[in-house]
Amino acid sequence: MTRITDSAAWQALATHYDDTVAMTLADMFRSDAARFATLSREHGGLLLDLSRNRLSGDTLGRLLDLARAADVESWRRRLFSGETVNATEDRAALHTALRDPRGFFGAPVTNDIVATQGRLASFTAAVRDGTEGGVGGQPFRDVVALGIGGSHLGPLVAASALGDGAGPQVHFVANVDGHALDAVLRAVDPATTLFVVGSKTFTTQETMTNAATAAAWLTAAIGDEAVQSHVAALTARPDRALEFGLREARIFPFWDWVGGRFSLWSAAGLPAAIAMGWTAFDEMCAGAHDMDRHFVDAPLEDNLPVLLALAGIWNVNFENLGAHAVVPYDERLRHLPAFLQQLEMESNGKGVSRTGEVLEAAVAPVVFGMAGTNAQHTFHQWLHQGPRQAAVDFIAAARPAHDLAGHHDKLIANMLAQAEALAFGTDGEGDPHKACPGNRPSTTILVEQLDGRRLGMLIALYEHKVFVQGVIWGLNSFDQFGVELGKDLAARLLPAAQGGEMGNETGDDLDSSTAGLLAQFHTWRDGTP
Ligand code: F6P
Repeated sequence: MTRITDSAAWQALATHYDDTVAMTLADMFRSDAARFATLSREHGGLLLDLSRNRLSGDTLGRLLDLARAADVESWRRRLFSGETVNATEDRAALHTALRDPRGFFGAPVTNDIVATQGRLASFTAAVRDGTEGGVGGQPFRDVVALGIGGSHLGPLVAASALGDGAGPQVHFVANVDGHALDAVLRAVDPATTLFVVGSKTFTTQETMTNAATAAAWLTAAIGDEAVQSHVAALTARPDRALEFGLREARIFPFWDWVGGRFSLWSAAGLPAAIAMGWTAFDEMCAGAHDMDRHFVDAPLEDNLPVLLALAGIWNVNFENLGAHAVVPYDERLRHLPAFLQQLEMESNGKGVSRTGEVLEAAVAPVVFGMAGTNAQHTFHQWLHQGPRQAAVDFIAAARPAHDLAGHHDKLIANMLAQAEALAFGTDGEGDPHKACPGNRPSTTILVEQLDGRRLGMLIALYEHKVFVQGVIWGLNSFDQFGVELGKDLAARLLPAAQGGEMGNETGDDLDSSTAGLLAQFHTWRDGTP
């Protein structure tokens, strides 16, 4: 395999970095009045401003050469045509087909998708208007979504952003920690509660533990028939949902070619659809499809996902920034940082190439974030004065969905102020404690308004960004073997955690830390409070 780091395009960028590193953001803005125009692009009510990154139009040209050298265009074609881009798991990654009802991209899976979406649309409407209810015929007042990772974060982002309050209240429980489920079970009535179990594999320990507890809770309150009426499944393994005791009408399939963190658009999105209504959910899919078409059709130099990816490559691989903060100045997007943490870090947090060679270049940075302005009162101090730096994504909507006077302009002024402070800093009038060095990069994404369409576009923008970066880094963005070891060890340690003593089978080869912590855990757990 030829490494991307050996390519002429990469070498040219490294030289270019050395040649331009002395130029600060202040210099760049001062010397080029057209900088914003050169380094920002708009598509469909979504504006991407890269001008506060420490790069120029010249840098961007060289980064585009790198994208071409990495064959981004041909990988994009392979992705959309359903080729086995996820080679380590021997499958395609066809989430784009889920938001392509007319089969525009020609993926060979359209009929299954359309049939399932019809069922999901009817079920969503019936749960929201109360025609679909539980054993006693009462409408569902609460929906509890059980699922974790990709079967949790995408639906949570969308439900929190666009939930309209018109249907049942939708709760999300991901953690195997019983405190999470317990808090919800205390607040809801079994007679009027629907559990929606989202799990691609239908084996994930957290979700199946929560599902079993919910089933027992329903059965104890309502009787044996409760589970079939009060539980629905969203899964690529309908056989396992049937075995669990669910009836077919309550099982909504998706497929192995839908990666967990790309599954919002599939049946896994049902909790979001119930929260926002099918029309908004459909609009969100249409927005994502719009971004797909833009990604496929727009020249690389005007292609938003490609440009966002390249700015990230510049920051990670040439500026050497290992951290990336996502700060949406929009309370409705408060869960977006966690979603992007999984999307970016689970997809591109890899150590080897597609063909198994150790990667030389740095890959996915640490992603963290929080809604602004709250973030200003937590980690922004670190962003402004800490010796380590992060690239920041600011995200905001121009038009709010509320009419409370005075809030939105203050929100936007704060976001612009943060980007400006990071870029240009202050000398603190000679006081080193007050000085902010500035010259710290950020990207701003401004959307016209946060409706279904723009939310779909925004999420698809990041999905494709991650894909493009994975292609350039030469890795498979669609597997996640790194999470398996922990799952195996947790299964192995469970008997030791359950038991008062560790039997030979589990105890013999424990390291002294695990053994010591388990011993103290048992002493305190089993002792008198
Ligand atoms: O975190 C590992 C992972 O496999 C994710 O990729 C996935 O989104 C999550 O677990 C949940 O998996 P499932 O939907 O199969 O329960």
